[in-house]
Amino acid sequence: MSDVQTRIAALRDLIRGHDYLYYVKDKPEISDAEYDRLFKELTELEQTHPELMRPDSPTQRVGAPPLEALVKVRHEKPMLSLDSILNADEVLAFDQRMKRELGVQSVDYTAEPKFDGLSVELVYQNGAFIQGSTRGDGTIGEDITTNLRTIRSLPLQLVAGSGYPARLVVRGEVYMRLNDFQALNRRMTERGEEAFANPRNAAAGSLRQLDSSITASRPLVVTCYEVTSRSEGAASTHWQEFEDLSAWGIPVPLSRLRCSTIEEVITYHHETAEMRDSLPYEIDGVVVKVDRRQWQEKLGFKSRSPRWAIAYKFSPRKETTVIEDIAVSVGRTGTLTPLALLKPVEVGGVTISRATLHNADEVARKDVRVGDTVKIERAGDVIPAVSERVSVPGEQRAAPFQMPADCPICHSAVAREGAYYYCTGQMVCGAQIKGAIEHFASKAALNINGLGRKTVAQLVDHHLVRTVADLYRLTKDDLLGLEGFADRSAALLLQGITASKDVTLDRFLMGLGIRQVGQHIAKVLARTFGTLGSIMTADKERFQRVPEIGPEISSSLASYFSEPQNRRVIDELLKTGFRIESDTPSVGQNAPLAGVTFVFTGGLGKLTREDAARLVESKGAKVSSSVSKKTSYVVAGTDAGSKLEQARKLGITVLSEQEFSDLVQGEG
Ligand code: IVH
Repeated sequence: MSDVQTRIAALRDLIRGHDYLYYVKDKPEISDAEYDRLFKELTELEQTHPELMRPDSPTQRVGAPPLEALVKVRHEKPMLSLDSILNADEVLAFDQRMKRELGVQSVDYTAEPKFDGLSVELVYQNGAFIQGSTRGDGTIGEDITTNLRTIRSLPLQLVAGSGYPARLVVRGEVYMRLNDFQALNRRMTERGEEAFANPRNAAAGSLRQLDSSITASRPLVVTCYEVTSRSEGAASTHWQEFEDLSAWGIPVPLSRLRCSTIEEVITYHHETAEMRDSLPYEIDGVVVKVDRRQWQEKLGFKSRSPRWAIAYKFSPRKETTVIEDIAVSVGRTGTLTPLALLKPVEVGGVTISRATLHNADEVARKDVRVGDTVKIERAGDVIPAVSERVSVPGEQRAAPFQMPADCPICHSAVAREGAYYYCTGQMVCGAQIKGAIEHFASKAALNINGLGRKTVAQLVDHHLVRTVADLYRLTKDDLLGLEGFADRSAALLLQGITASKDVTLDRFLMGLGIRQVGQHIAKVLARTFGTLGSIMTADKERFQRVPEIGPEISSSLASYFSEPQNRRVIDELLKTGFRIESDTPSVGQNAPLAGVTFVFTGGLGKLTREDAARLVESKGAKVSSSVSKKTSYVVAGTDAGSKLEQARKLGITVLSEQEFSDLVQGEG
């Protein structure tokens, strides 16, 4: 090795070490000036010897040439979320559940801060950081490697000789410190750019950048909390995992605590909550994890979260201010939401000037009016809300608030459904048309790359798109007529639109924007029914028999699918060549009663009719309310009426309850 090579290697090691002390340990050992000298020396040597440049050099955190688009990456294991709880009773119940399920008397926990940022996955190969991604929908995220490389606390190279595994996948949180966030917002406003609402949005906006030099200019930090996979070695506890991570040079939460009882967890939560306001960054609770890895494995996972961990959140913060006005916003499903416009107030380091009032009933219940003094609360990830009115002696109050009779956007009539008011102009209301399309294109739904809020607004305002089906008829010429579109960007958007035709059933359902049907219910529907056809032909009663689907969601589904305009749009979509990947329904073609149709009439003794229907449906049969030639069996209970007669007329097999029960049991 030449002298220059040796000096470069030494400088890189030195700088990495000081980066670690400064950004991770928060304990710098040299002055900024000394650090700058080392950095300058390295930069100059690398400039004169470009052949010695290495991508993991500390000088390479400045960003790379901008990307065209963020590339998708599939996570080896899904990136899950956490169930949350708010009080000590719930955490005691969690402890009881853990002990019961493990069949043990006591469980050790690790308690650690819950950082309010963005989760990321980091991959290290032979100690070098090779890939980083966002959580995305949990299964597929976006490759943000070049952006992550600019984060100073993220080691590009793990500590030599520390025993790190050849391949290592870890997860952690990227966030922004409060003072850095405020300084960034000041810079943005000075430049006439829009400020970020909170540190979390600022972190998100900085990380999902095509131009990594922008990310490099944003003061992000990372902390890791999970080893997702490692090629060799294994920690027996989560605590040990933290020790390993730390030894390899990966930043981990410093204020973690190992607890041998749940009471210690509660004390830790209490103490952390007290410290919260003096911390330099936002945390929104404490994460409690069963410490032993073996026990974690035994406890396993639910669909979206591990059973062995829980987010024990802090109660939201509150501040007092005055309502200057009450505005009404129109959401993507047409719901009118009253919004309090506030005299700006700082709640937990973030300036709040508007807060939701949820709905008209809430406004009436809290009796808040323009000019009132109110308390505003904000929980980390939730939109600020008006929590209560504070009466002020001698105040002159305005008249009670009333919802408008016309939609503030399109002036269609406003209708009422329970506590909710909504605009009836579904197909003409700009807010709803745009909202519906944005929702359809969103990440959790059809995930159309390049179709964000701004483009949707352009498409609708230029009358190019009125329904989601119109998206699939767009041409390059249409797009070239819009501001900001060039050959390449138009081609990319069209590509994104075409690619979205290959979609899973749950995402498609989610995209339709049916009231009350979010990601979870869409998954339940896809799993239960398997195909779009069987969902579209189900009735309200059928929906209601699905566990997790209550009367409100059932009504919403039934009324959505009975609306001819909605069916027409779905038809049009299908005609454009959608390939909807059906879910494997819990009951498939091979189910014991597949293809069999039952009609129940009269009262049953042992089962309710609902239960009987649910039972046969779980084995793949259909239940109908009227007898026809397609009916396989009519089950006649006591006082069976005209359906029994009809069955006899058509020569359909009639079963007594006992015969029915034998038949069904015989099937498995
Ligand atoms: S553990 C399988 N630990 O909170 C375990 N998550 O609400 C998954 N988060 O998606 C997460 N601090 O983005 C864990 N100390 C911590 C965390 C933490 C913040 C985030 C993470 C996760 C979300 C769940």
